[in-house]
Amino acid sequence: MRIAVFSSKPYDHDTFIAANTVHGHSLHFFEAALSVETCSLAEESEAVCVFVNDKVDARLLRCMAGRGVKTVALRCAGFNNVDLPVAKELGMRVVRVPAYSPYAVAEHAVALMLTLNRKTHRAYNRVREGNFALNGLLGFDMHGKTVGIIGTGRIGAVLAKILTGLGCVVLAEDVYQNPACLALGVRYIDRASLLRESDIISLHCPLTPETRHLINKESIAMLKHGVMVINTGRGALVDTRAIIAGLKSGHIGALGLDVYEQEEGLFFEDHSNEIIQDDLLQRLLTFPNVLITSHQGYFTREALTAIAETTLNNLSQLERGEACPNTL
Ligand code: NAI
Repeated sequence: MRIAVFSSKPYDHDTFIAANTVHGHSLHFFEAALSVETCSLAEESEAVCVFVNDKVDARLLRCMAGRGVKTVALRCAGFNNVDLPVAKELGMRVVRVPAYSPYAVAEHAVALMLTLNRKTHRAYNRVREGNFALNGLLGFDMHGKTVGIIGTGRIGAVLAKILTGLGCVVLAEDVYQNPACLALGVRYIDRASLLRESDIISLHCPLTPETRHLINKESIAMLKHGVMVINTGRGALVDTRAIIAGLKSGHIGALGLDVYEQEEGLFFEDHSNEIIQDDLLQRLLTFPNVLITSHQGYFTREALTAIAETTLNNLSQLERGEACPNTL
């Protein structure tokens, strides 16, 4: 099958080319994001392969359908960036990679927690400049702290296991109770109680109309003073303006973000020679207790390999006329 791979980086080329040795697809890599302007690059391709920030909306889907594209292969788990009803109406298939490495994202969430707590990002810079003072670097024991996990699917469950190992008390809120979490002693409670009782809150639910801005002005008012908030889910789970107000008042004690509401067009790219126009992001970057990473939670060797293998396998199944369980 001819596949146009958009928003692709050198690391995607490497893993897709390696995984393709058993599939033999014709891969065409483009660094550009998929958009109405770039979709002509998919001419003659049966499938486009896209990533988290390629906005596959109704206009783009219609444009691609007119060019003969039949399948959209997401090389990610989340699918909030695709207009599924319109894809269905056009008879286009949408496949994704529901799971690749829950460990990658859960471990990154822990990295953000530990860095913000023990301030290793600041210590690194200080020591390199000959400043060996400890003022301002005071942390706390993770042991005995209460961590609230919202969404205990694949990633949330791995996080619960790691945190249990650190001696944390783990609370959770989810529409389903995960037996693996229950076995660890995780206590499921309602969202309001979780927000009130947690020292650290970590978000691992999908972005849906129900979860959009679940951290907002009202929910922040319920949080413990000095709480740490970690978001490796999707940017819009957090109302950025409200969290900035919480940081300014000191109500939010630390914030770790791997995703950001307006990350599209910024994250994954080098903008170091430009004036960044996003004033909210720039304000966030001024806080010493805020740590932002550029959607790299998934970015491990194991995850990239699994993403490439599952994506190409999804497309091979469709090409052979078989049912693909990863179809949305
Ligand atoms: P999953 O589908 O295994 O788990 C999601 C959990 O959220 C499920 O248990 C579901 O019942 C729960 N949930 C759904 N609606 C909810 C609600 N309203 N309130 C509370 N819980 C709710 O998904 P997985 O693999 O654990 O991924 C979670 C999220 O992490 C993804 O949706 C994606 O947005 C994000 N993600 C981020 C990555 C990164 O690189 N930063 C990489 C991969 C995923």
